[in-house]
Amino acid sequence: MTQTLTIRRPDDWHIHLRDGHMLKDVVNYTARQFARAIVMPNLTPPVTTVAAGRAYRDRILAALDPTLDFTPLMTCYLTDTIDPSEVIAGHSEGVFTACKLYPANATTNSSHGVTGIKNISSVLDAMQKSGMPLLVHGEVTHKDVDIFDREAVFIDEVMTGIIADYPELKVVFEHITTQEAAEFVAEAGPNVAATITPHHLAFNRNAIFQGGIRPHYYCLPIAKREKHRLALRKAAISGSSKFFLGTDTAPHAIGAKESACGCAGIFNAPYAMESYVKTFDEENALDKLEGFASEHGPQFYGLPLNEGTMTLERRETLVPEKLTVMETNIIPFHAGEALEWSVV
Ligand code: DOR
Ligand code: ZN
Repeated sequence: MTQTLTIRRPDDWHIHLRDGHMLKDVVNYTARQFARAIVMPNLTPPVTTVAAGRAYRDRILAALDPTLDFTPLMTCYLTDTIDPSEVIAGHSEGVFTACKLYPANATTNSSHGVTGIKNISSVLDAMQKSGMPLLVHGEVTHKDVDIFDREAVFIDEVMTGIIADYPELKVVFEHITTQEAAEFVAEAGPNVAATITPHHLAFNRNAIFQGGIRPHYYCLPIAKREKHRLALRKAAISGSSKFFLGTDTAPHAIGAKESACGCAGIFNAPYAMESYVKTFDEENALDKLEGFASEHGPQFYGLPLNEGTMTLERRETLVPEKLTVMETNIIPFHAGEALEWSVV
């Protein structure tokens, strides 16, 4: 039985760091585990200009523990009216690594999102030309589509069209949750990839309703049936360079989760690698973790691989019941559980 595993330092290709006090309290959880991370722009107001992206990056760096070596990679939030020249200037100036497409009202702070792909056609054209990746929250938002079907319907109604109309555009289907999405990405061209979260690999939708309503398992896209979780696990351990690590860590204060209308999001940054290694170990695929966590992402983004290493060992990690953030509590993913692996 493998007792220790040393891999190239991993990166996280999808995170929410928030802002203000929350940012100060959460950024180092990610920076302790990952060398780089793609930072989502869904602040209030959203990050839609080069100046806002640069200022946000400065706030992240100011909040960072100076002993940690971590690079935030910034994203631009697409709106119906965003100016393509702003997006491309941000990319060429090294501020924006990618753009994020939130369908309007799909999730937290997405009310300024895109209401129709035709509204951003000139931006997508410019991104395709410049090789700037498009990161997609892939869910339709019409109220008449069942919440568990929103990702699969998005593939048919939106994603297929984007891929057809912009065949050279680099597209990341973010935090996929369905067999349909895993198959769609596997069958698409090499410029289409996907991130997979630790939580969608670990539980199915039953966890949200286990003996009562469990808000700390609620995120968007919502967890689906078991067959979908199994399809995601298969994709993650496949060795295909189209699938890579993106935690979608999304902290919310406990009161915002345990509420009559609780927020979507799971704070998995503190034990993210312990969670992924558990999945890969259960699948007898520890040899596939390095590709997924440390190689496929930078290869897709056209960035260098990290130089350092991370060692994981088979030694129990006890995840606390809660963590203190902003003088309140936040419940981490795997709260109260004993995980079999530790980051050394
Ligand atoms: O669960 C989620 N939380 N999904 C998202 O798409 C957004 C995120 C957040 O910002 O809280
Ligand atoms: Zn997200």
